[in-house]
Amino acid sequence: DAAEKGGYEHYMRKEIHEQPEALRQTLAGRLDVDAGNVDLDVSFPPGFLADLEEIRIVACGTSYYAGRYAAQLFEELAGVRASVEIASEYEFGAGRTPDRTLVVAVTQSGETADTLGAIRRAKDAGARTFAVTNTLGSTVTREVDGTAFIRAGPEIGVAATKTFASQVATLAMLAVAVGRDRGALAASDARSVLEDLQGLPGAVQQVLDEEPQVREAAQAYQDSEAFFFVGRALGVPVALEGALKLKEISYDHAEGFAAGELKHGPLALVTPDTPVLAVLTDRSRGRETMNNVTEAQTRGAPALGCVSEDTEYDTLDVSFDVPDVGTVEPLVANVYLQLFAYHVANEKGRSIDKPRNLAKSVTVE
Ligand code: AGP
Repeated sequence: DAAEKGGYEHYMRKEIHEQPEALRQTLAGRLDVDAGNVDLDVSFPPGFLADLEEIRIVACGTSYYAGRYAAQLFEELAGVRASVEIASEYEFGAGRTPDRTLVVAVTQSGETADTLGAIRRAKDAGARTFAVTNTLGSTVTREVDGTAFIRAGPEIGVAATKTFASQVATLAMLAVAVGRDRGALAASDARSVLEDLQGLPGAVQQVLDEEPQVREAAQAYQDSEAFFFVGRALGVPVALEGALKLKEISYDHAEGFAAGELKHGPLALVTPDTPVLAVLTDRSRGRETMNNVTEAQTRGAPALGCVSEDTEYDTLDVSFDVPDVGTVEPLVANVYLQLFAYHVANEKGRSIDKPRNLAKSVTVE
């Protein structure tokens, strides 16, 4: 066991640190940056993508947040309406055209019963189905019309970390591929997204190198009553994922919100004992989010922010630098939140790789 953890005390920390390599594998041989093209080795019937009306993503937990990130990319890059649904809540729904809908299951394990159930309901309605998964030969791959593998390597810790990053990177490539096929994305715009993706492993490594700073922040705030995570646009799924990670492994109360929603209710919960962790990257409308963070600070809450490296917010109690990698900048910010969750849980001596009451793969509905 100790040998398998490669010198790390927990699989989770090992897997957080494996992210640059996992991302390199995810991207390997799939990008033609000069041409602005992606080769995911997937095919669709002729004309299917051109006529596509909607992409519906179905997933659970962390994979659902990867889906929320991706839906924004599909709309922006592929010019197609995209929505995300919690798999256990998914129904095909009225007013939709099955043969012009692509239902995409995002599932690390490929075995999550809720997600398989959603795919079966989509198939019954006549929709085309697709899976984004880490697991070769998993049940989902046998049920869908096409699959893209995220190639993150085995993930042992119950908390999903490197697979979230690789899922988002794979879905970003899929969004570029669909956008190019539909003629919705110019080669020059595709090129710039692909360059951002190429920069992702290095940017994540830069964040990992800041781990001592994150550990210090975790030690300073670990005994807080609750933790609130906020963001805007691509920062929202990252905030939600940050909160899930912290609650899952530390057992502390943590909630994620769209930053603009703070003033519509959650602000009543804010006290000097509830730190706010914010995704303040330029690509997630950091400046507007900072205004909401200031409202929480006025009520005494400490504020920690993941900030684009060329931006500064002097009033933050803690500021983490995020390298500028465009569309995937908020994904890089997420690595700080993973490390924060890990160190809070570690300080408390929690069972990090196997949190109470949870299973890696949830095979019951
Ligand atoms: C994430 O840390 C959780 N362990 C959990 O939310 C997980 O992402 C969810 O159960 C979905 O699993 P899947 O990706 O294998 O379908």
